[in-house]
Amino acid sequence: MAATALICDTEPWKDLKEHINVIEKTHLRDLMNDLNRCQSMMVEFDGIILDYSRQRARLDTMEKLFKLAEAADLRKKIDSMCNGEHINSTENRSVLHIALRAPRDKVICSDGKNVVPNVWDVLDKIKDFSDRVRSGSWVGATGKALKDVVAIGIGGSFLGPLFVHTALQTDPEAADCANGRQLRFLANVDPVDVARNLKGLNPETTLVVVVSKTFTTAETMLNARTMREWISSALGAQAVAKHMVAVSTNLTLVEKFGIDPANAFAFWDWVGGRYSVCSAVGVLPLSLQYGFPIVEKFLRGASNIDNHFYSTSFERNLPVLLGLLSVWNVTFLGYPARAILPYAQALEKLASHIQQVSMESNGKGVSIDGVPLPFEAGEIDFGEPGTNGQHSFYQLIHQGRVIPCDFIGSIKSQQPIYLKGEVVSNHDELMSNFFAQPDALAYGKSPEQLHHENVPDHLIPHKTFSGNRPSLSLLLPSLDAYNIGQLLAIYEHRIAVEGFIWGINSFDQWGVELGKVLATQVRKQLHLSRTEGGPVRGFNFSTTTLLTKYLEVEPGNPSDSTVLPRI
Ligand code: F6P
Repeated sequence: MAATALICDTEPWKDLKEHINVIEKTHLRDLMNDLNRCQSMMVEFDGIILDYSRQRARLDTMEKLFKLAEAADLRKKIDSMCNGEHINSTENRSVLHIALRAPRDKVICSDGKNVVPNVWDVLDKIKDFSDRVRSGSWVGATGKALKDVVAIGIGGSFLGPLFVHTALQTDPEAADCANGRQLRFLANVDPVDVARNLKGLNPETTLVVVVSKTFTTAETMLNARTMREWISSALGAQAVAKHMVAVSTNLTLVEKFGIDPANAFAFWDWVGGRYSVCSAVGVLPLSLQYGFPIVEKFLRGASNIDNHFYSTSFERNLPVLLGLLSVWNVTFLGYPARAILPYAQALEKLASHIQQVSMESNGKGVSIDGVPLPFEAGEIDFGEPGTNGQHSFYQLIHQGRVIPCDFIGSIKSQQPIYLKGEVVSNHDELMSNFFAQPDALAYGKSPEQLHHENVPDHLIPHKTFSGNRPSLSLLLPSLDAYNIGQLLAIYEHRIAVEGFIWGINSFDQWGVELGKVLATQVRKQLHLSRTEGGPVRGFNFSTTTLLTKYLEVEPGNPSDSTVLPRI
């Protein structure tokens, strides 16, 4: 494909467009009867099973999608990413999160330099530091061991680590290693988030990790200054050196803030914020909580999928299959959303992490060359663990809008429970729903069936389920650190595949900049009005009115002295 051509101008794209008519005439009830098709749509890698037989696709649909991948130069784009080319062209950067979890002896170059040794220098430094904190050889200013960690960061400097932390909390091996320790996350600039984080914490035993790629993010820096004040007002300014460390690409600003560069953990501009959980962004807080060996296991899981993604043919490549099916659903079948439904409470924060990875990566309206896209790209991601979601938004998924679903389950529970006399164990009960929901969506329930069940006529339309609603199932062997790393990498690469096919830049995020600029103007106005009583100026009628109302009420804090939360 020529560099500036759009994928929608290619023959495989046009072919798929025509193919929609064919698929519109099928129903999943019938597609599911084709055993050969169903067998082909079951792919296994390293104990992870992907079943995509409940997608609105036939085997020839897949052939056509593979042709589309060829037309989009997918193989070349994957290679370019893994070879460190500057595929993030608007920021002129490589995209090398795969290097963050590569084994020591691997060579991955950015700008002609192997980056893997630098990655391992930082990992070794994290191991050493976290070992010292956990063993009590690094202590706080008053000589007490630091058993509580507050990680300050937002967006990519928060959501990935929170997802992994939440998933590891109940893994028995990880939980054992975390005994007596706490990891908390402070993300929102809302003072209530500070109050919640500080509740029950003692500055003498608390270590604060400031996580920010740029070290300029307004929310994170205000929260960092707040925590610095909390520590120094209790223990004196000199205590900051023992109680605050940082993770950033901007070590100059870290030092300016007052954190010793020796206690800073670097990463690099070739790591996108939302792809940074395998850098010090995630590895430092998680190692402090669980110890480095658990986190290394997580990194090995992610690396295992990196190799699979790089080397496996598209027909059996989990991220490629998932990415192609997403493109099919979003752009061809016109389903803009995707529900992420882990039947695992441990994966409670998966959907919110993937929401950022996917929507910040692929929420774009122009091609990588800046040409407006004449088709819809990007998808709306949301989700909740099953079965909770079933009692919330599944009504809409079953009888309202069509939303392709990702069902994710694990064969083994992290925390098995069985009550003598019960029909099944608690995990089997959970998984009964995991297995049943996809069929309910695919087959539905017809008026004929309802007649058969003597349902009164007037209720038949209400109780009818059209079915034909696509989903896919991912069944993992268990949910230990390794599997969690695998799952993360599957989603990261799937999202990259989607962007590669759509021909967009999945690695920049210009769309989040405007809001930041607008907040700057408001911040200036609030300062001026609060300190000098200046009138609200320079905003439209709506904002002026709301700001004026907001400023009419006393804020409840003096502007000439520090106030910290009281709970
Ligand atoms: O929300 C925009 C964003 O730039 C994200 O891409 C990023 O993950 C987040 O802010 C945090 O940025 P930083 O790590 O630089 O504080």
